[in-house]
Amino acid sequence: MSMHPLLQRRYRLDEAPVPFVLNGTAETGRRGDTVLTAILSVSGRLRQSEFTGENRAGFCLIGACQDCYVMLADGSRVRACSTALQPGMAFITDLGAMAEAVHE
Ligand code: FES
Repeated sequence: MSMHPLLQRRYRLDEAPVPFVLNGTAETGRRGDTVLTAILSVSGRLRQSEFTGENRAGFCLIGACQDCYVMLADGSRVRACSTALQPGMAFITDLGAMAEAVHE
């Protein structure tokens, strides 16, 4: 299934690039991005629900609902809407890859 990015970057196009990894693929965000902004600028979903498999993209976007938690490659989780993107962050947002990471 092809998924176009959910967000289209229109402002701050000249901010410094910030490299990150999404499900094993090298991607680039911009300085000042939240994790949510960076992921949705390159993907049609933020993550898949662990319970239903449905695509999620966050809900409140103000740090209140916890719908935007994403897993990092080390197994820790961050709230994507209120976490600043840092160079080198690696995210796992596909259900299959999440299950493998948890059982390693
Ligand atoms: S979208 Fe609600 S806490 Fe991040």
